Amino acid sequence: MIVRSGKRQMTSAMALTPDLTTSPLLLDEATRAELWRRLAAIIEDYTKGVGQARVTPELDLAGIREALAPFDFARPVPAVEALDFAAEGLWRWQVHTPHPRYFGLFNPAPTTMGIAADALVAAFNPQLAAWSHSPLAAEIEQHLVRAFASRFGCDPARVEGTFTSGGAEANHTALSTALTRAFPEVGRRGLLALRSQPVLYVSPEAHDSFLKAARLAGLGTEAVREVRVDSRLRMVPGDLAARIREDREGGLSPFLVVATAGSTSAGVVDPVADLAQVADEEGGLWLHVDAAWGGAAALVPELRPAVEGFPRASSITFDAHKWLSVPMGAGMYLTRHPGILERTFRVAAGYMPREGAALPVADPYAHSMRWSRRFIGLKVFLSLAVAGWQGYEEAIRHQTAMGDRLRERLREERWEVVNDTPLPVVCFVDSGAAGRTAEFLEGVAADVVASGEAWISIAALGEAGQALRACITNYRTGPEDVDALVAALGRARARREAE
Ligand SMILES: Cc1ncc(COP(=O)(O)O)c(C=O)c1O
Repeated sequence: MIVRSGKRQMTSAMALTPDLTTSPLLLDEATRAELWRRLAAIIEDYTKGVGQARVTPELDLAGIREALAPFDFARPVPAVEALDFAAEGLWRWQVHTPHPRYFGLFNPAPTTMGIAADALVAAFNPQLAAWSHSPLAAEIEQHLVRAFASRFGCDPARVEGTFTSGGAEANHTALSTALTRAFPEVGRRGLLALRSQPVLYVSPEAHDSFLKAARLAGLGTEAVREVRVDSRLRMVPGDLAARIREDREGGLSPFLVVATAGSTSAGVVDPVADLAQVADEEGGLWLHVDAAWGGAAALVPELRPAVEGFPRASSITFDAHKWLSVPMGAGMYLTRHPGILERTFRVAAGYMPREGAALPVADPYAHSMRWSRRFIGLKVFLSLAVAGWQGYEEAIRHQTAMGDRLRERLREERWEVVNDTPLPVVCFVDSGAAGRTAEFLEGVAADVVASGEAWISIAALGEAGQALRACITNYRTGPEDVDALVAALGRARARREAE
């Protein structure tokens, strides 16, 4: 700015320069103050009030599009008005996953510290590509990698890891690192350089993100081989060994075995140590454990048997945005093969900052399939710092107890529980003759969802067929919520029976 004789002189440059203190991107101080107050009030209101709302929205496509139509972006909208529009819309048009009667997919009620962390991260906007641009953020994430490695029984000094958007990216990272280790030439020359087709092994209970990863890696979904499960839906180690040998004899190249600790449909925990034994005996195959949800069992002594075999895993997927209840997305990939992330992901990038080059640190972008990304770890760090391991232990134990209560109440009401897991996901059918049919189960689930009283779903459990599925995903779910679900199920069943 040029000031002469106390008067502000207009220069040609100023005529072209907008007043940055009132830029519509920044907003003026008074508007910002009002916006933050409103935002805090909206969040508090939602936190306190969500339990009284319907769990499920009306799927009103026309209404949503009509509400969006006035936003042609030609006429700027006042800040608070725009915020209110979004908040009202979210109240109205989403399945309230933070609701204590959302018995659903692994989507939790977010921790308060997680919400605060995400807001703080948005404001400071640290760039997690180069270590030197965000040294605190990068070190917080690595501190967490070591802390969770230790909880999983691994040697933190030997574990490397990266934060991911979620479990799917962590699983994809596992596939890529295992492929790099088994076939180092693939990184440069591609799959065509190989003489035989690489294949990996999953159980039918494994998460379908492995199909996506196989497709994206250029392996194709036929490279994903299914191994038989036992009556508890756990992968059978003997069958794994047989399939690997058979495939080798058929000219294929096994490179990866995937165990699941806490499967999506039924909370099944594969026998990780036994599968690791097979992987070792079959030429040192990579054993990945997808513990996206079930890994949290490591924090509770009585659930620890579920994670017993983890130290034998080559890599682990763990999602803090599942059972650790931080806002999405917050996944983690850990490996006890130092250097493999670097070999899989590093590329030369001349423009990237080098200030940290002399330090014994890694640039996050060189250990990940992503480049610039947000500071994912802060919501985990602040939630854990404030709750402590003890706070999480209590929350997870409470949810597990609510799962036990649900099983008990269902049995009292003539439902039959058909899955076997210590974790709080319950699959069940009606014990009557018609209670296993797809028509009945889908009808009951649809009735419960349409009632707005709760959200549950249907799971396919292999040869055991379909079942209703209810998971305690929320640390705020109490006995009254479990009882309300059982009552809603009873009403839905009575309606089906009356038809
Ligand atoms: C066992 C398991 N692995 C991986 C995933 C994928 O995780 P995300 O949705 O965070 O990518 C899920 C999702 O529910 C899961 O249950």
